[in-house]
Amino acid sequence: MPTTEVLPTHTPALFQRAVVRAAEVLRTGRIAALPSETVYGLAANALSPEAVAEIYRAKGRPSTNPLIVHVATATMARVCAAAWPALAERLAGRFWPGPLTLVVPKSPKIPELVAAGGSTVGLRWPAHPFFQAVIRECGFPLAAPSANPSDQLSPTTAEHVLAGLGGRIPLIVDAGPCAVGIESTVVDVTGPNPRILRPGVISSEQIAEAAGVPALAAGNPSTGPLRSPGQLHRHYSPKARLVVWSWREDRELADRLAGESIDPSQVHLLAHSRIPSEAMPAQVSFIPDDPEAFARALYGYLHLCDDRGARLIVIEELPAGSAWDGVRDRLLRASVPADAGL
Ligand code: TXA
Ligand code: MG
Repeated sequence: MPTTEVLPTHTPALFQRAVVRAAEVLRTGRIAALPSETVYGLAANALSPEAVAEIYRAKGRPSTNPLIVHVATATMARVCAAAWPALAERLAGRFWPGPLTLVVPKSPKIPELVAAGGSTVGLRWPAHPFFQAVIRECGFPLAAPSANPSDQLSPTTAEHVLAGLGGRIPLIVDAGPCAVGIESTVVDVTGPNPRILRPGVISSEQIAEAAGVPALAAGNPSTGPLRSPGQLHRHYSPKARLVVWSWREDRELADRLAGESIDPSQVHLLAHSRIPSEAMPAQVSFIPDDPEAFARALYGYLHLCDDRGARLIVIEELPAGSAWDGVRDRLLRASVPADAGL
C-alpha cells in the first residue's frame, strides 16, 4: 500500500476539498478514516460487501463483530432498516444527530458482512459536519467502526489513526480532536424496552426518559444474556496495566504506589477530585471532575501512556451516577489484562 494521504479541514476550502476526495475514495470501493464527534471512524460504502471487507482486513477485525452504519437523513436510516420501531423513532427524534447507535431489524439491502451474519443492524446519524457532508456527497450510508487496529485503543485524533493504520489505508481526514471522545451509546430497540448494549455519554437515564419506558442493561438476568457481539474487553485496553483505585489522602496513595516497585517514570496517575501532591512517585495528570471533560480526554491520555511506555496506569475511582456510565464502562474494559481472552 502506498503512503497514507492525510487531508486537513480547517478552512472552508480545505474542508470541501477533503469532502470531495473522501467521497471519491469511498465511491471506488476503498476505505477512509473520517472524523466523527465520538471517535475517528474507518468508513466504507455500507451497501458494498467488497468495500466492507476492506474494513475488516485493514483492522484485522474478527468477522463476528458487526459494524455500525452511518446515515445523514431519516430516510436513509429507514432504507437500512427492515422495520422502524416506535422506540427507534422516539430515540432518534431526541438524540440524532449525535452519539447514539440504534440496533434495529436489518434491511436485505445491508450486506451480511456488515451485520456479522445477524438479523439486526446498528444505525447512527453522526453530528460531525464532516462525516455528514461525506455521506451526503456519496449518497450512500457508510459502515464505520473505530479507526484502530482491532485490539488497540480507539483514536480521537488523526495522529492516533496514522500511528495505528498508517500505510494500511489510503486516506485520513484530520478535523482535530473528537468532541465527545468515547464511542456512541449502543441501544437495542427491537424489543419493548430499550436495552443498552454499550454505555456512552448519552446515559441510560436519558434513554429511559426519552423512551418513556425503563432501559435494560445488556445481559440483564431477567431477560437473558444477550450482549453486543463485539464487546471483547480488550478492544478498549491500553498496553499498560490499568487499575482504578480510591484513596483518602496523598500519603496512602504514595505508599501504595511505592509498593508496586515500578520506576515512577513508568507509573501514570490520573486524578479528578483534587490535584495530588508533587511528591507522588508517578507522572501525575488531572482532569476536572466532569464526565464530559473526562470522556473527551480519556483516550488521548491512554494513548499518551502507551507512547511513553507506561507500565502502570492508576485512575482515581469515578463518582457514582449514570452520567459516568460510559467512562466507567471503558475503564472497566481497560482494566482487564490484555491476555485475559474475552
Ligand atoms: O461512536 C461510535 O460508535 C464509533 C463511530 C465511528 O461511529 N464507532 C464504533 O464502532 O465505535 P465499533 O465497530 O468500534 O463498535 C461498534 C459496537 C461494537 O461493540 C459492535 O458489536 C456493536 O457496536 N454493534 C454493531 N452492530 C450491532 C448489532 N447489529 N447488534 C449489536 N451490536 C452491534
Ligand atoms: Mg472499536
